[in-house]
Amino acid sequence: MLLDQKRVLITGGSRGIGKAIVERFAEEGAHVLFTYKSNMASALDIVEILSAKGYHVHTVKADVSQQEDCQALVKHVQDTFGGLDILVNNAGITRDTLMLRMSLDQFDDVVNTNLRGVWMLTQALLKPLLKSEKGKIINISSVSGILGNAGQTNYSAAKAGVIGLTKALARELGGRNINVNAIAPGFTKTEMTDKVPQEIIEQALSQIPLKRMGDVKDIANAALFLASNQSDYMTGQTLVVDGGMVMPS
Ligand SMILES: NC(=O)c1ccc[n+]([C@@H]2O[C@H](COP(=O)([O-])OP(=O)(O)OC[C@H]3O[C@@H](n4cnc5c(N)ncnc54)[C@H](OP(=O)(O)O)[C@@H]3O)[C@@H](O)[C@H]2O)c1
Repeated sequence: MLLDQKRVLITGGSRGIGKAIVERFAEEGAHVLFTYKSNMASALDIVEILSAKGYHVHTVKADVSQQEDCQALVKHVQDTFGGLDILVNNAGITRDTLMLRMSLDQFDDVVNTNLRGVWMLTQALLKPLLKSEKGKIINISSVSGILGNAGQTNYSAAKAGVIGLTKALARELGGRNINVNAIAPGFTKTEMTDKVPQEIIEQALSQIPLKRMGDVKDIANAALFLASNQSDYMTGQTLVVDGGMVMPS
């Protein structure tokens, strides 16, 4: 198993990509603590189903945009595991609209969760990660942070920020045996993309060489690679998992 006994925290594991990462990591022997913000019923279902299979999975409510929740999570991680080997910053939101119509609250909400939240939680957990024999940090960015996307000035800015944060932290932690990498998913089928109008989905599909939307398992497999020792010589990278839509040079 690729993550045998590894102690993992995954934010936003109650649905979508985060849920798929929780499942994939648990199957590979990890001990997983995942957070939810409001969807307690779904979070408890996931714990029940995976625990019944003999996997080690726990959940806790936490809003990553709130500093006190990030601090409380550090204590929760210590109480649950006594340390941490892998952090997956997955929680994210959208508040899409053209800049002319976007309110400052819509900008702040997205940046506070998708960028500031990643920074705050990672900083709070650095000490336990530094004590790990081998630490891995995986930040979920987006192709919108590479290409930019009309209607997403808030989201694209935050996700580009996550890529910059990933590179800077990879340089800071390179000598401390912690790898820091990002994943930039393309259009992936979740509740987040269920909100996107059909004509935009069709337009996106016409730009995807593999001619389909991503499945959450596609992203979970990339996260597994970055969490495992198969990627030990990679840091500061952004793995683009998008059916070929972006192809960065
Ligand atoms: N889907 C895509 O096409 C796509 C593409 C590129 C990047 N991404 C990124 O991938 C990540 C997951 O996206 P998804 O499509 O799986 O989204 P999703 O289905 O909307 O799920 C979002 C998850 O984040 C949690 N969450 C939201 N705000 C939070 C907060 N302030 N604090 C803690 N948790 C919070 C939600 O918890 P509750 O269930 O409790 O609300 C939920 O578990 C996000 O960072 C997203 O930006 C997605």
